[in-house]
Amino acid sequence: MVLRNESGQGSIGATALVALLGDWRGADPGGLARSLAERIRLLALDGRIPAGTRLPSERELCDRLDLSRTTVAAAYARLRDLGFARSLRGSGTQVRLPVPRLPESAPSGHEIDLSRATLPALPWLAEAAREAAEDLPSWLHTDGYDPIGLPEVRAALAQRYEERGLPTEPEQILVTLGAQHAIALLARTLLGRGDRAVIESPSYPHAFEALRLAGARLVPVPVSETAGATAGAAAEIAEVEAFEQAFRRASPAAAFLMPDFQNPTGRSLSPEARDRILAAARREGTVVVADETTAELDIDRGFAAPPLAAQGDAVLIGSAGKTLWGGLRIGWIRADRELIARLAQARVVGDLGTPILEQLLLARLLPRTADALELRREQLRAGRELLTGLLAERLPGWRVPPTPGGIATWVDLGAPLSSRLALAARSRGLVVPAGPRFGIDGAYEGRLRLPLCGDPDELRAAVGILADSWGDLPGAESLGSPGARGGII
Ligand SMILES: Cc1ncc(COP(=O)(O)O)c(C=O)c1O
Repeated sequence: MVLRNESGQGSIGATALVALLGDWRGADPGGLARSLAERIRLLALDGRIPAGTRLPSERELCDRLDLSRTTVAAAYARLRDLGFARSLRGSGTQVRLPVPRLPESAPSGHEIDLSRATLPALPWLAEAAREAAEDLPSWLHTDGYDPIGLPEVRAALAQRYEERGLPTEPEQILVTLGAQHAIALLARTLLGRGDRAVIESPSYPHAFEALRLAGARLVPVPVSETAGATAGAAAEIAEVEAFEQAFRRASPAAAFLMPDFQNPTGRSLSPEARDRILAAARREGTVVVADETTAELDIDRGFAAPPLAAQGDAVLIGSAGKTLWGGLRIGWIRADRELIARLAQARVVGDLGTPILEQLLLARLLPRTADALELRREQLRAGRELLTGLLAERLPGWRVPPTPGGIATWVDLGAPLSSRLALAARSRGLVVPAGPRFGIDGAYEGRLRLPLCGDPDELRAAVGILADSWGDLPGAESLGSPGARGGII
């Protein structure tokens, strides 16, 4: 884990770095120093070691890894040569990212980016935007700073919860700048430094990063993509028991989970599992935060689960990002009125409100939510069929779990080579986050998250690159660049 001092400078200790390195030996056929440099480079590229972080001293690291000082010094020197580190005057080595550049071998002159599982805007969005612009004049006499949400938007979102089986007052809604903003706002409002927070593992990386930034100590609970496939099945019982144990042992201040179509595994929890998790949280006074950004992206599960708060106390996060369009940058929080008031107050440190025009657009789009979900279903179904077909053809040794909904699938590679594969793919122009990016401390080397959505031609090219890169392991020579855009979505 990266620790920050008061001026925001981070450092990573030798023990934490060794945990992140995982099984790094052999990452590069050129020997130990190059392998060590390669793995640190990947950690920098995918954000697990943020740029600016100070690495452990050579002496500390060689002691922890049982390597000679020369080997660690050579690894650090290589990182410097590649532009991924620089020497701090008199005080060690700091990770940096070189200025992004296009890899020479990129097939069509640009990188394919599978770190973003996103869908294009709804086809009727442009027309709705024109209509929303006509609604704007009635707001132009106000100052336009809106930290809570326009009354009609809060009412429309409350109405949606009502339709999904959860009575809601408009005063229980706070409109945010996307779900990520909601996560970060809740994290810094609910958690103090040193508080424990339960989190699913694997999980959405920017969620656990936000919890960490708020000072939380994370308590991971393993999630299996097969849990929830059949209510009461062994995998789900094991998961629920792990939640119960984590609540009992850690008495966490908050728990962050994705009950439906979890990102990245795609698993959903049965009503029985939700009941038990909510009961365990209640016993410890833990605030459960359910991120439902992907909850309505059902492909063929065959039923719409009610929001988690319909079964017990839970704060809900929603987003227009996956159902309508990420470019709207609109999300929301549903909570009791008291917490909504606290959040509105806490928010102003980071931002002063949600744009009016985007909210008016959301108000125009929400009445057609059913049409939007139907379209998303078809798009995700087509993406899933294409991806699974391509993988079956080109990479038949990989296991694609059943994925009845959500935006991604959590592929089992059958070998702990995800980081090496991600680096090899990067040198061919494909950015794909390695499995460990979704874990708290470097697990999931045998996994790769692949999106169910995206341009079919890019997906075809991406699977081609994955197959070629996989075929070349373990000898891949890889000198990629960081993704130009940053962030996993
Ligand atoms: C589970 C989850 N939460 C939050 C977000 C961020 O959503 P938004 O675009 O609304 O900020 C994403 C985006 O991929 C996500 O998958």
